[in-house]
Amino acid sequence: VVEHRVYLQAPGPTNIPQRILKALDQRNMASRGPEFTALAQEVLEGLKDIFETDNEVVVLPGSGSGAMEAAIVNTLSPGEAVLALRSGHFANRFGEIAQAHDMKVDTVDFEWGEPVSPEAVRQVLAEDDQHRYKAILLTHNETSTGVTNDVEAISQVRRELDHPALLLVDAVSSLGCIELPFDDWELDVVATGSQKGLMLPPGLAILALSDRAWQATEESKTSRWYWDLRRVEPLLGSGLFPYTPPQPLIFALREALTMFKEEGLENVFARHERLARGVRAGVRALGLEVLAGEEHASNSVTTVLLPEGIAYEELAARMRSHYGVVLGDGLGELSDRAFRIGHLGALHETDIFAVLGALEAALFELGMECSEGAAVAAAARAVR
Ligand SMILES: Cc1ncc(COP(=O)(O)O)c(C=O)c1O
Repeated sequence: VVEHRVYLQAPGPTNIPQRILKALDQRNMASRGPEFTALAQEVLEGLKDIFETDNEVVVLPGSGSGAMEAAIVNTLSPGEAVLALRSGHFANRFGEIAQAHDMKVDTVDFEWGEPVSPEAVRQVLAEDDQHRYKAILLTHNETSTGVTNDVEAISQVRRELDHPALLLVDAVSSLGCIELPFDDWELDVVATGSQKGLMLPPGLAILALSDRAWQATEESKTSRWYWDLRRVEPLLGSGLFPYTPPQPLIFALREALTMFKEEGLENVFARHERLARGVRAGVRALGLEVLAGEEHASNSVTTVLLPEGIAYEELAARMRSHYGVVLGDGLGELSDRAFRIGHLGALHETDIFAVLGALEAALFELGMECSEGAAVAAAARAVR
């Protein structure tokens, strides 16, 4: 008779608040009618606050990867050189998308668990005195390793060197969780999806573009139709979409934006920072190792090395079946070596305590020695 709550603690899709679930539950409207277009206008305007930009934000049906592809195909042409800064699974994907569209992708690789070094970027850009690189591909928050890159410093390097490359940023697991002010940091494209920090179901590809990036959409020779932002540009501000918009997600996004407004963006960032600190303290109190160093550790996801003798499948199954907690698996070179705890979106201290308590119990039941209550006690101290 007890309805157990499921804690979706993979780093996305995240837990959907009840208010957003209710907002989803509406009848279809005419996509080009006054009721829906007014609502869409309100939502697109409201999104600017989350991106911290005065520029237009684009929402299309798709996922985060779609937003990344839209960023690439609209700003670059086949044969153009791009610099992919890679330190994990999703940074690799950004480069792969550019490769798929026949751009010349040069990579700078960093160890998984380490951040992208702004100094290394400085060196590469300084050597590119012919300005061969048309764009830099950067992952703000590497969801596979739980490392947040210093986007501000990298943007600054580009500015100091007066390098004209566009800075394209994947913010799929950071927008609405970790500070990324689009205008202040002079970014060119920030791409995200709906199912993580925005607390919505999957299904929206969301992008902000600078004036330079909008200009590049006119110049790109990459063939495209669905993602062609030249089709969107004349509709900006109208609440119209170039094809049928995913209406329920737009209804839900309005509610999410209201929730952001009520809490305040700064407070949302602070909450993510606090809960992340709690998760890392709790995990360490169990004797486990967090992959990322404290200085670069992500506020939205923590990648934890699996303890000796415990397989991910075993731990994940125990957590799911006994405690209703869904973990994220290790990706790429971390598969079978790590698990991930997502702590982004609609979460509160109590959720973190529950997840850590369950983790401790599951590890104990799987044979690991851990002192009782240590994880929750450490997390409670850390979030104070
Ligand atoms: C940093 C990052 N980039 C890209 C993606 C891909 O997003 P999607 O699965 O919505 O296409 C993810 C998904 O987890 C991500 O975390």
